[in-house]
Amino acid sequence: MSVEMTDRERSRTADADAPPLLELRGASKAYGNVQALTDVDFTVRAGEVVALLGDNGAGKSTLVKAIAGANQLTSGEMLIAGSPTTISSPAEASRHGIETVYQDLALCDNLDVTANLYLGRELRVRSLGMMDQIAMEKSAQAVIADLAATIPSLDRLVSGLSGGQRQAVAVARAALWGSRVVLLDEPTAALGVAQTHMVYELVRKLRDRGIGVVVVTHNMADAFAIADRITVLRLGRNAGEFSPLRNTPEQVVAAITGADTLNGGHGR
Ligand SMILES: Nc1ncnc2c1ncn2[C@@H]1O[C@H](COP(=O)(O)OP(=O)(O)OP(=O)(O)O)[C@@H](O)[C@H]1O
Ligand SMILES: [Mg+2]
Repeated sequence: MSVEMTDRERSRTADADAPPLLELRGASKAYGNVQALTDVDFTVRAGEVVALLGDNGAGKSTLVKAIAGANQLTSGEMLIAGSPTTISSPAEASRHGIETVYQDLALCDNLDVTANLYLGRELRVRSLGMMDQIAMEKSAQAVIADLAATIPSLDRLVSGLSGGQRQAVAVARAALWGSRVVLLDEPTAALGVAQTHMVYELVRKLRDRGIGVVVVTHNMADAFAIADRITVLRLGRNAGEFSPLRNTPEQVVAAITGADTLNGGHGR
């Protein structure tokens, strides 16, 4: 494999001096006596897609929820753009420009696409305190057009959308509000080939806007298709950092399963 840097890698090197958008240092989380994360370091830079890989129970969703403010680390440090920060609620994560699409998509079936995009943050017509339907639809249209999502119509009830279209709504909602970091937990787990490619396309558009995107996945093809960097967790601990350009799926699988520790060490 070539050791030449690609343009994308070179531009990444250029912002390597800027502090990462988001950094976790020594993150640990216990649920009662279950140690879900132990001393995990994790970094996301601007305009970078990081795939977070690991087997069932490796701690991926726990890490995402800690960043999203949905649960609290037991210990460890979080830095946003280099400044130590604590995020104690999803609302606080939103204020920092961090948006999450959870593993079980939190969409409301009985509402239409626009209402789902603005759930809990409806724009109001200031003088009347009423919802500003026109402004909401206009801005939702812009986001959806920008993301090139194939949603048939914004006033369709979400209950009538396909799995891929629902995923697009959830990703679009994160894109609408996430100005720094967007976290996607298993975005393609239930999708077919065409829908999976649609989600890949959405992820690339977010990255090209300078957003740091974290994609949690079991799927090696996902990781190699969209990630700039792959972080592996195993049994709640860091188990290696890989480059889709320089490493092979076999090396990543070895880190996920722990086979690599048999011949000493992991990662590059
Ligand atoms: N709310 C909870 N209470 C107790 N234990 C939990 C809770 N959530 C997760 N765990 C445990 O923490 C560990 C990590 O779980 P987590 O959901 O982060 O894994 P994951 O990597 O996302 O797995 P999957 O690939 O199956 O989604 C597991 O052992 C799990 O059983
Ligand atoms: Mg999970």
